[in-house]
Amino acid sequence: MLKAVDFYYFSPTGGTEKAGKAIAYAVAETVNAINLSDKAVRNPSSDVVVVAAPVFSGRIPAIVADKIAALNGDGKKAITAVVYGVRAYEDALLELNNIMKNSGFEVVASAALVAQHSIVPEVGAGRPDKADIEETQQFAKNVLNTVEDGKTGNVTVPGNYPYKEVKKGSATPISLATCNGCGHCACVCPTEAVTVTDKEVLTDADKCIMCMACVAKCPAQSRVLPPPIQEGLTQKLSIFKDLHRENEFYL
Ligand SMILES: Cc1cc2nc3c(=O)[nH]c(=O)nc-3n(C[C@H](O)[C@H](O)[C@H](O)COP(=O)(O)O)c2cc1C
Repeated sequence: MLKAVDFYYFSPTGGTEKAGKAIAYAVAETVNAINLSDKAVRNPSSDVVVVAAPVFSGRIPAIVADKIAALNGDGKKAITAVVYGVRAYEDALLELNNIMKNSGFEVVASAALVAQHSIVPEVGAGRPDKADIEETQQFAKNVLNTVEDGKTGNVTVPGNYPYKEVKKGSATPISLATCNGCGHCACVCPTEAVTVTDKEVLTDADKCIMCMACVAKCPAQSRVLPPPIQEGLTQKLSIFKDLHRENEFYL
């Protein structure tokens, strides 16, 4: 067991944090959790780091890419994970690992882990579940053993380069008439897209990445995607509702 590990994560609705922590707590006694949505993100101080990012449209969110690109890996070993909502993770894991390597980390092992879909929660409902967590913890322990046995070198993961093109949507969540103007949506927004005045809640479509943090965390359940958008995505993803996608591990 390591004494401590730095755990970098971005998790608007909690799935990535939960799945990533299963790795971090399986390898170290102390986990220093570092939220990549914080303004200042410090360089790692532990010998091994764990990094977890959600998959957005087959890629990692730009906010994650930018923050990791600014880190100094200094040859430290990294275990990476992308967390996705059953459909597909496409180029996200390759992208994450490439940025990590460019920042000076050695990516010794990686995982593509399944979580509940943050836009359509019927897809992957309840995941990661107990079995997912146990499987992920076992993987992390195996990684630690190989690292302690002196394993070096970067792991190979699936994905294509050039990466899948990012298409910026124009939709943003909206506030319903039941909104009490508490401003929590503005506080939890990782891109500062939400402004709350005494009259209305404004959402900047250029800044919003539709991460669903404001929807998931609204204390009055008054933040939603515009109904036609929600219905369209629910319909589009309905084919994945009963699919049990397996986690994938690369070591
Ligand atoms: C904007 C957006 C795009 C997404 N794109 C994908 C995707 O391409 N493939 C997929 O399987 N899941 C996708 N998801 C689902 C998330 O990857 C999944 O729910 C993840 O657990 C979200 O992380 P969080 O729970 O830490 O917020 C997307 C979710 C959002 C909000």
